[in-house]
Amino acid sequence: MKKTEKKNASSYCNYNDSFISYDQNRQPNGLQEILNIFKQSRIPVEEQTILEGGFGTGAYINHIRHHVKEIHGVEGSEKGYEETRQKVGNAENVHLQIGNILDLSFSDDFFDAYMVNQVLHHLDTEPAYPHLTLFLKESRRVIKPGGVLTINTSSQEQLNPHSGAYWNYKYIEKAALAIQARYIPVPNLLSRLEELEFTEIKTTLPSGNLFQERYYCDPRLVLDTDFQKADSIYCFYSKKQIDEANILIRSSIDDGSVYQQMEHAAARAKEIGESVIISARKPL
Ligand SMILES: C[S@@+](CC[C@H](N)C(=O)[O-])C[C@H]1O[C@@H](n2cnc3c(N)ncnc32)[C@H](O)[C@@H]1O
Repeated sequence: MKKTEKKNASSYCNYNDSFISYDQNRQPNGLQEILNIFKQSRIPVEEQTILEGGFGTGAYINHIRHHVKEIHGVEGSEKGYEETRQKVGNAENVHLQIGNILDLSFSDDFFDAYMVNQVLHHLDTEPAYPHLTLFLKESRRVIKPGGVLTINTSSQEQLNPHSGAYWNYKYIEKAALAIQARYIPVPNLLSRLEELEFTEIKTTLPSGNLFQERYYCDPRLVLDTDFQKADSIYCFYSKKQIDEANILIRSSIDDGSVYQQMEHAAARAKEIGESVIISARKPL
């Protein structure tokens, strides 16, 4: 890395670019469900010490900090760290660091809960997802006995370019298939959690949307380079491929077919959700 380049952790996307427009285009979905999971512990939520791994621009931390005793965050992108620092101001119960969630600096049994939101697909380039196992082992190490891990991710069905929850993925099919391969199928993730002897493994469909409201009603939004920067799926496409996809979308706006596609994806999202939260406990 050149000296002037900011640190970045994703295996395929430079988040120092993406975070310029991230907050305008994304929403922290599942916040309520994650808090509810934290509340199901023996320790009252306001006495809990929480960790967020890969906190991005800090949207989750900035909300959850008001409900818990302390929240720590580890993020691989310097730009994300800086944005989050600004967002949380002088909040005394927030502790942020630039680091790698595969190798945490915390001692064993430190946290009451650990959350990751849309991070797992950045960890691995290999189809056997070896870094995911490292991440799960490291999570289990830093969580207290009885503590909980929440993983906000997406299923293969949700990411499907033709029958999934994201209407624009149909027009960037190759990128959608590439990103789909980065997500471990949910049943496999559940098996890995079982193998590592996590207990109370549950799946919850979060409420709320992943993207800003305009995504769901105005197809022109996805032509915007700022929007494209805020979804790492576009990192799988060259400039030429993005231009070709934009042509496809413009013509489907002109002939009206895009609206059917948007309706179809919205109906699917109601059925299968836009993402999924998997929670699992470290045994006492
Ligand atoms: C899609 S973003 C999600 C950001 C945030 N969690 C959210 O949902 O708004 C993925 C984040 O994971 C971070 N990340 C990826 N691999 C990481 C690693 N090994 N260690 C720390 N952070 C990592 C990236 O830098 C990026 O901020």
